[in-house]
Amino acid sequence: MGKVLVAYFSASGVTAGVSKKLAGAIGADLHEIVPEQAYTNADLNWMDKKSRSSVEMNDRNSRPAIVSKVDNMEQYSTVFVGFPIWWYREPSIIDTFLEAYDFSGKTIVPFATSGGSGMGDSSNIMQSLAQDAKVVEGKRFSRSASENELKKWAEEWI
Ligand SMILES: Cc1cc2nc3c(=O)[nH]c(=O)nc-3n(C[C@H](O)[C@H](O)[C@H](O)COP(=O)(O)O)c2cc1C
Repeated sequence: MGKVLVAYFSASGVTAGVSKKLAGAIGADLHEIVPEQAYTNADLNWMDKKSRSSVEMNDRNSRPAIVSKVDNMEQYSTVFVGFPIWWYREPSIIDTFLEAYDFSGKTIVPFATSGGSGMGDSSNIMQSLAQDAKVVEGKRFSRSASENELKKWAEEWI
């Protein structure tokens, strides 16, 4: 088996916490997907139809720029991709991430945190953007998910 990567985007820290726990629990490398322009509280206001997140999520072609780069993506056979659920799916910056690398032959395992809703359409959309990869259904976790819970779930793919 090749190496395992946990790559995550987190706007307010919840997914970051779960991602670090997951990477620690399974001994994976950890990579933060860092937006070129950080999301402010105003950007994240879902009540405002004109906020940055609302505008991005209303446009399926939105691809917010990323400044961080994974070294040697070739070395990984499994990539866990973590994000907050935004409007019942993955944030547009995850779409940018998926289009930035060659994932052929790799398994992509989505995971998320949310205010309560599940993965929604995330996996299907992600599969359409990384067609040469195998994108599994993935799972939504609460912010208090334990290392043990994360490890048990992740073991299927590592
Ligand atoms: C723009 C926006 C849209 C959101 N949409 C949803 C949603 O559809 N369902 C849900 O349960 N939570 C939703 N949330 C809540 C986040 O998924 C939740 O707070 C998440 O844990 C934040 O993770 P983070 O701290 O890693 O950014 C939304 C949050 C934002 C900012």
